[in-house]
Amino acid sequence: MAYKVAVIGGDGIGPAIVAEALKVVRATGVDFETVDFDLGADRYVRDGHVLDDAEIDAMRGCDAILKGPLGPPIGDTRVPGGTIERGIILRLRFGLDLYVNLRPFQGKGLDFVVVRENTEGSYAGEGGFLYKGTPHEVATQGSVNTRMGVERCVRYAFELAQSRPRRHLTLVHKTNVLTFAGDLWQRTFNDVAAGYPDVATAYNHVDASCIYMVEDPQRYDVVVTDNLFGDILTDLAGAVVGGVGLAGTGNLNPDRTNPSMFEPVHGAAHDIVDTGKANPLATIKCAAMMVEFLGEADAAARITKAVADAQSLSGTTSEIGDAVAASV
Ligand code: IPM
Ligand code: MN
Repeated sequence: MAYKVAVIGGDGIGPAIVAEALKVVRATGVDFETVDFDLGADRYVRDGHVLDDAEIDAMRGCDAILKGPLGPPIGDTRVPGGTIERGIILRLRFGLDLYVNLRPFQGKGLDFVVVRENTEGSYAGEGGFLYKGTPHEVATQGSVNTRMGVERCVRYAFELAQSRPRRHLTLVHKTNVLTFAGDLWQRTFNDVAAGYPDVATAYNHVDASCIYMVEDPQRYDVVVTDNLFGDILTDLAGAVVGGVGLAGTGNLNPDRTNPSMFEPVHGAAHDIVDTGKANPLATIKCAAMMVEFLGEADAAARITKAVADAQSLSGTTSEIGDAVAASV
């Protein structure tokens, strides 16, 4: 039966690179149909629409979501900050319970994966203002950490580490200062570790981890960390392996109660729209992650190899897509 893929082309170069990724998946012979969702900054500016429950429900009926970059051109003030981030991206991550943000990093001889918790921490939106706009104003932004939320993320990371040759997992946090959340993460990590005696473990404070990421990234195999630390550390990791332009993300619901969402880490690059200069490879990698998650391991491996072979290709967006499609 054909898979049903929800497609959010997104803004700027998004539609063009997502089209190339779909072209490559089609070339593998994996059978799928698409359902398009017109969402993003462009749509918001056009008619004020952000994302509604009916659209989320329609996505629930799909097997996976392939999402392009979302966001207005830099300096465009028509889209208030947070509209896209909280209104679309986080709403999808939370609404579909995509509790693992999986970011693989390969390049410069490195091969490691960051498992970022994706539904809690300081992203949860707990907090608020008091006396806003007065000299007494107060803003709080809490970090929400539940035993269930931490445990399912940590367990996913142990399973992943166990499946990789090095079988090594590092917990990254700031247990010396965030003594409540850090304590919960550390205890949960230790409890889950007892069930995986064949996985070697380590702990790094997040600030030290930033040094290691630059000076000794070979030490990492699988890293598990909280939402905000993971956001920051994965931008650094992307730069270390050769630029976030090449990185892909899986927002996963490992329990498969909802479709998972795959998206490139880079932005919408409005300045190069319609120039043919947009590189579709990160989005094609996301498509490989997507078909892999759907259980099409062979197609995923063929796309991954074709992307690796295409690293040094030059050409337009569609020429690169054609070349990868031809070699899968
Ligand atoms: C990312 C992005 C998002 C995040 C933003 C756009 C909400 O930076 O996917 O890393 O902070 O998670
Ligand atoms: Mn980020």
